[in-house]
Amino acid sequence: MNKVLGIIKKEEQRQLTQLNLIPSENYTSEAVRNAVGSVLMHKYSEGNVGARYYEGNQFIDELEEYCLELVRKVFKLPEDWGANVQALSGSNANLAAYLAVLQPGDTIMGMHLPDGGHLSHGWSYEPQGGEQVAQDTFEYLGGSNKVNISAKLFNSIQYKTDPETQLLDYEKISTLAKKHKPKLLITGGTAYPRNIDYGKMKEIAESVGALYMADVAHEAGLIAGGVVPSPVGIADIVTLTTHKTLRAARGALILAPQTIIKKVNKAVLPGLQGGPFNNNIAGITVGLEEVLLPEFAEYTQKVINNAQTLCTELISRGYHPVSGWTDKHLILIDISDSGLGGRDVAQILAKADIIVNMNTIPGEKRKPNDPSGIRLGTPFVTSLGLGENEMIKIAELIDSVLELIKEKGTEAANSAELAAVKREVANLTKLFKPR
Ligand SMILES: Cc1ncc(COP(=O)(O)O)c(C=O)c1O
Repeated sequence: MNKVLGIIKKEEQRQLTQLNLIPSENYTSEAVRNAVGSVLMHKYSEGNVGARYYEGNQFIDELEEYCLELVRKVFKLPEDWGANVQALSGSNANLAAYLAVLQPGDTIMGMHLPDGGHLSHGWSYEPQGGEQVAQDTFEYLGGSNKVNISAKLFNSIQYKTDPETQLLDYEKISTLAKKHKPKLLITGGTAYPRNIDYGKMKEIAESVGALYMADVAHEAGLIAGGVVPSPVGIADIVTLTTHKTLRAARGALILAPQTIIKKVNKAVLPGLQGGPFNNNIAGITVGLEEVLLPEFAEYTQKVINNAQTLCTELISRGYHPVSGWTDKHLILIDISDSGLGGRDVAQILAKADIIVNMNTIPGEKRKPNDPSGIRLGTPFVTSLGLGENEMIKIAELIDSVLELIKEKGTEAANSAELAAVKREVANLTKLFKPR
């Protein structure tokens, strides 16, 4: 017991004293954390509101009904839309959506993983290197290693971004859709820094008789804050995670017209999961109450302002963010000219208490476990109160570490200069606390 409490304390300190630039993470309020740590975790409640397989669920029903009501408000659901709030994670939400509307063996089409797509959008690769021969540079036919269950269950074809601009090319996606006739077209990803034209994607899907699913796991909070476009009411299915920019407890939501949600509910249970995590649903609900406060929209605007300031500063120091810019909370930087791969670079930055993750970039030539890029994001530091002046400082610190790496290679990790950067990070983070 004491050991675990000690670990929790140390992790809390780490989160508050290091500079956390992982775009998929955030710092929740104490109220959200209390809800997650509550007795609600004890209750089994397989089923949906008013129709459970276990007795004693009157308060769980009250909670889930309230959660659904807030989801409707936060994401401005059309009258005939509903939601499922029980998927345990974003990957499960995507799988549940697939099980709801597809048959095994059907064709799905999502974004290529190195270009920013997510594992759960049908990722597979060829372990011997190279790809199955594609006739078009925009087309990825996958490989023999079906890494994710979405590639095992379905025939996955992926579209790539434009090699020059690193942006989605809707005409090319349309051509590929006509060629492969997917049953489901998927957008969204973990590392695509630009907005997606949901209307165009829906048109492409419709033109080939496909359904369109928008996975907005990353952008959910920015959509709720009204600072980026929303696919709700345009796409046929919207999936999202609740713990990234949305700043609520860990979990996922599936939004769709009621006709599809009925199938989604069955896909979640009994198709995929057992009992929902009611404590997490409570933490998501408290998070959604906070999203409805005016401060949340301000927070999301600050997240974007911070990311764009960081991006501008890095560009002015000679770096090349993927696609040239960010519309949202994340930036991808090609670090291949530092002389080291993304893993070493991320590890050396971490020694200076700057926490980023290694990431593949479009046209990736290296392995996924040591790729050519690093990914930076602003949701967490913005929750701690850092603003645009601090982003300028962070760009300066990252640049100084990358220059040090160019000069000293892996030896940078043990240098006095890196220790000095770590002290600067400590001086910066001690001025801020979660708000
Ligand atoms: C676009 C996208 N979809 C799905 C997921 C999966 O979410 P989870 O980690 O909750 O399974 C992620 C996670 O980063 C994501 O970025």
